[in-house]
Amino acid sequence: MSYLMEVGYLIGSVSFIVGLKMMGQPDSARKGNLVAAFGMAIAVFCALFLNASGFHIIGNIEYIVTAIFLGTVVGTMMAKRVQMTAMPEMVSLFNGMGGLSAALISVIEWRHQMHLLADAAVEGAIDMASSQMPVGMYLAIIAGLIIGTVSFAGSIIAWGKLNGKLGDFRLPSQQIINAIVLLAIVGLAWMNYNGYITELGEINYTYFFAMIAMAVVYGLIFVFPIGGADMPVVISLLNSFTGVAAATGGFMYHNKIMLMGGVLVGSAGTILTVVMCKAMNRSLTNVLIGMAGANSGGSGSSSAGGSVREVQATDVAIMMKYASKVIIVPGYGLAVAQAQHVCHELENLLVEEGVDVKYAIHPVAGRMPGHMNVLLAESNVEYDKLIEMEHINPEFATTDVVLVVGANDVVNPAAKTDPQSPIYGMPILEVDQAKQIVVLKRSMKAGYAGVDNDLFYDPKCGMLFGDAKASLQKLVNEVKSL
Ligand code: TAP
Repeated sequence: MSYLMEVGYLIGSVSFIVGLKMMGQPDSARKGNLVAAFGMAIAVFCALFLNASGFHIIGNIEYIVTAIFLGTVVGTMMAKRVQMTAMPEMVSLFNGMGGLSAALISVIEWRHQMHLLADAAVEGAIDMASSQMPVGMYLAIIAGLIIGTVSFAGSIIAWGKLNGKLGDFRLPSQQIINAIVLLAIVGLAWMNYNGYITELGEINYTYFFAMIAMAVVYGLIFVFPIGGADMPVVISLLNSFTGVAAATGGFMYHNKIMLMGGVLVGSAGTILTVVMCKAMNRSLTNVLIGMAGANSGGSGSSSAGGSVREVQATDVAIMMKYASKVIIVPGYGLAVAQAQHVCHELENLLVEEGVDVKYAIHPVAGRMPGHMNVLLAESNVEYDKLIEMEHINPEFATTDVVLVVGANDVVNPAAKTDPQSPIYGMPILEVDQAKQIVVLKRSMKAGYAGVDNDLFYDPKCGMLFGDAKASLQKLVNEVKSL
């Protein structure tokens, strides 16, 4: 019986790892989520109903169960209602709640440790005025408090920016102010360690609360200046903060699964942040000081020169119907237009005509990790038709028609050819190798990076202007009528 909790935690930990691994592939991601959720259910059960000596119901169980029930109802309703384009802001909000929970755990544990000291002093076991908390415990509490609070405050700002309620805000000498606030937090943590008991032997909360206030300020000024379109990278970074903050809870309570869960979230968030920055060919520092976010949306003007060839749906439909191989390149515009279902309908029609159709997936197409995979999975596109960039690039040269649906930066040849371009060095989908290219977008406006795209002036490229959903619908109708 005494091993039951350990075995439960082991099963939970293994489920987290297996679930995370399964989430790496679109066809197993859904099951991976369920496996990880199963692991979490086991972990929660063990924490509430088992201890080292066997079955034991934790104190305040009625409050805990009520909170879990309410959280489950609210979370389920939010997740069911959320629009796919609003997914990043929901992730940000949930991440903020994780940070807040980790910070609250630290507050509670701090209070608990203070009361232990006070009780020991009353019993005469220690001299309150000269007592010190073990350094390891102090660091775990304070790290969880500060990192969790920064993650909470930052995530709430990220949420507000993504849903358009908050704009960019930059203080003069922003980096210096950030550094001063950070130093103030470290200073307060030090002063708190040396001064949480007054000379009269009473508990002193002043530095503790000042530290929380400064951590909130840091979270706000850290995220406010970053461009809204850079938020997915920031959310991923804040997510890794929340993981680290949760891991400190594992130290405080000697709870292995909390430690393991926190470490997994922390490392997965960090890896994702690095992968996103790499795929955008930007350093994390560049993202954090908001360089490209400042010009997201683009100027709309072109300096690339040359003339653009406009095409009509009828011609594109003929081209695709009689092609032997078509590659569809989805981008952010597909998400904006919510055109994934009609895109799948077009794919099905072409497949019925004997055309080999695949999708080319760029790692940072859209505005969140896996954005295109999620959208296309929603419209039941088969997973094996979604081909990652490094595998699809060699195929473009043998492709008759590439249909670019609301993508721009991820197909911009300037990333390979123009060392002056801000996206130079970013790996791209090499669609210019195909025999014919058709781009579906509304205007000549630039994409997220705000740079012009020479692809649109390529003689092999035709522009089908209009909302992606409307254009795809026209293509579906035309292919059907041919
Ligand atoms: P973008 O380069 O942003 O281009 C999207 C294009 O879609 C725009 O040029 C826009 O042109 C078009 N569009 C918008 N609404 C449309 C609609 N309703 N119908 C048709 N077209 C529409 O997108 P991308 O190629 O997917 O590249 C993603 C960019 O975001 C990269 O620069 C990447 O670094 C960045 N980014 C990605 C992430 C992640 S994690 N995915 C995170 C942060 C930043 P019109 O306005 O002319 O229609």
